[in-house]
Order: sequence, then C-alpha cells, then structure tokens
Amino acid sequence: VQAFAAENDQIAAMKYPEWLKEIRSLRKNLGKILDVPSGDVALTKNTSDGISMIAAGLATQRGGNVVVPASEFPSNRYAWEALEHAGIEVRQPGEHGKCPSEDEIIAAIDRDTLLLSVSAVQYDSGWRYDLKPLSEACKHYRAFFCVDAIQQVGALAFSAHECGADFVIGGSHKWLLAPEGLGYFYSHPDARQQLSLSQYGWCMIDDPFAFATGAGWEPASSARRFEPGTLNTMGALALNQSLSFLLEEAGMMQVEALIRQGVDYLAKGVADISGLQVASDLSAKRRSGILALKHEDIASETLYKRLMKNNIYCASRGGFLRLAPHCHVDKARLDRALDVLAGACQ
Ligand SMILES: Cc1ncc(COP(=O)(O)O)c(C=O)c1O
Repeated sequence: VQAFAAENDQIAAMKYPEWLKEIRSLRKNLGKILDVPSGDVALTKNTSDGISMIAAGLATQRGGNVVVPASEFPSNRYAWEALEHAGIEVRQPGEHGKCPSEDEIIAAIDRDTLLLSVSAVQYDSGWRYDLKPLSEACKHYRAFFCVDAIQQVGALAFSAHECGADFVIGGSHKWLLAPEGLGYFYSHPDARQQLSLSQYGWCMIDDPFAFATGAGWEPASSARRFEPGTLNTMGALALNQSLSFLLEEAGMMQVEALIRQGVDYLAKGVADISGLQVASDLSAKRRSGILALKHEDIASETLYKRLMKNNIYCASRGGFLRLAPHCHVDKARLDRALDVLAGACQ
C-alpha cells in the first residue's frame, strides 16, 4: 500500500500497465482461493455490492420467493427484503440470534423459490453451515444458491465448486487481511446468463480499451459483465499481496490449522475464567475461525470495551463477545487476551 501510494504521488499512473498485470494476478488468486475459474469472479466494492447486484438481477422476475435465514448479517437480509416491492416473497426461517438448521432452511424452499442465500459462517456465533445439502435442495427446486463467504474465505478452506453455489460473494477485509473497499463476486456461468444486469459502464465488455462506439456492444460473457467501471486499484494491489501470503507463503492448510489452534487455546483458557462461557459450537461440523463468548452477568459490550482499551481487537455481536484469532496472532497475544478477560471477570 505504501509503495503504491508513493508511486501514485510521484509518477501518477505512469505504471498503469504494471498495475493491470497485478490485477490479472489478483483475479487468478481469487479463482484459486474460491476454487473456480478466474473468469467467473468479478471485483466489486464490497459484499453488499455483490448481494445487491444479485437481488437487482432477480427483481425483474416478478413473483416467487427468496429464502434467507432471519439470523443473517444485515447485508444478507436487506437486499432480499427490498425485493418485496417487486412482488417477491421473502421467507426467513429461524429467528434473530438463533440459526435455523439446514433442514429448517430446506423446509422453506419450494418450486416457487428463486434463490436461497446463507452466510457460510455466521457473523455472531461463528456457526458454520453444511452447504452441500442446501445446494442440493436448491438444485432440486431449480433455485439459485447464493453464499456470503466473507467469514470463511481466508480462514478455512473453501470451494465454491464443491459446495455447488451459483453465486459467492465476500469482501477483502476480515480474514483476507486486506484494506476495506473491495469485494469478490463469483457467478456460475449458467446462473450469470440468467441474471439481469443492473449496473453499466465501459469496463463490462470483453475489451474495454477498444472504446466501442455506436450502439453495438455486448456485455462480457465472463464475470467482467458485473464490473461497470474503474476498479479500486490500491485495494486490488493490497488484496493480491494478502492472497499471495495466504495461498503461497503460509498455505491455506497451515492457515486453517493455526486458526484452529488459536480458537482451541482461547476456549481452553476461557474454561478457567469464572462466569465466562464459550457460546460457539466447536464440533468439527460447526466450528469456524470465530469464537463467541458470553458471561453470565457481564454484558459482552463491557468485555469488548475492556479488551479494546488494552489494544486487543475484537467485536461485540449479537450479545456475544467475538474473538477471531487469525494465523499471525501468536500465543503471547492470546495469553494477553485471556489475562485481560480474567481481570474483567473478577
Ligand atoms: C456475513 C457478513 N457479510 C457481510 C459483511 C460485510 O459486508 P460488506 O463487505 O458489504 O461491508 C459482514 C461483516 O461483518 C459479515 O459478517
């Protein structure tokens, strides 16, 4: 980021062709981390941008329903709820703060379902969904399957191909360790062709630099059709550095193993702190990189403020204190978090 900012300052866009090379490399790396061809991945502003494009693409359908758990992160609810204006029913199994099971979600799908959208990992409790039965139910009813993967990709191995998703969206920050302001949007080629476009610009054709004139232009058949204009180049270069670290320097298997160790270490330490409990399901099927904690008397907001005051970055979400130790968080830092928590809970 510093090198890019300095270059921009001193020679502006003189090295634009180099930047484009880096963006091509980013596309390849995104394909790798999502386990799909790179041409099926578009760059967006953030997760909400991708979800909104899918929702806007469905709005032309009129009728039918969309299924999304009531417990989802707001971005994965608002865009679908807004479809009610287009006459599309929004079905929300479960309740706020309580994830519905896969079976409860599947029970809400029927032959009028246009799309099911879930987060692979829930933002508050860290609960991980088994995506395969959800995608199979969608295939059975010919509905699109959309996965918000921001809380999984970069922490745990993920394959859009294996989980059978039609759309996968996420953002550059969080587990991808890059600055905010860039997102990814995978679309299966068949699903992509069926989605109406809602954003337009010079970059969405196969060869933007041909500067097509006249009326004859076609949106790219690749995911580039969802990229209307100039990209966030600084964000793209930074994300590519982070992806190179995760995929090549560290390796996703090692990243996942280190995160698992970190979560287990914290959970073990929490067991010795009076009144504090692990709220996440840490079974092999459900665990993720998120460890949600709850104290029987002390509000999660109070614990959050105490940790932040001690320079330990965490979050308070859905009534839980959320810890999410990435692979670079060492044992000393985890011990420090446990010490501060023990002090706060005395
Ligand atoms: C499940 C989920 N989706 C999306 C987001 C963020 O959305 P965006 O990238 O649009 O800011 C978050 C952030 O906490 C999240 O947890």
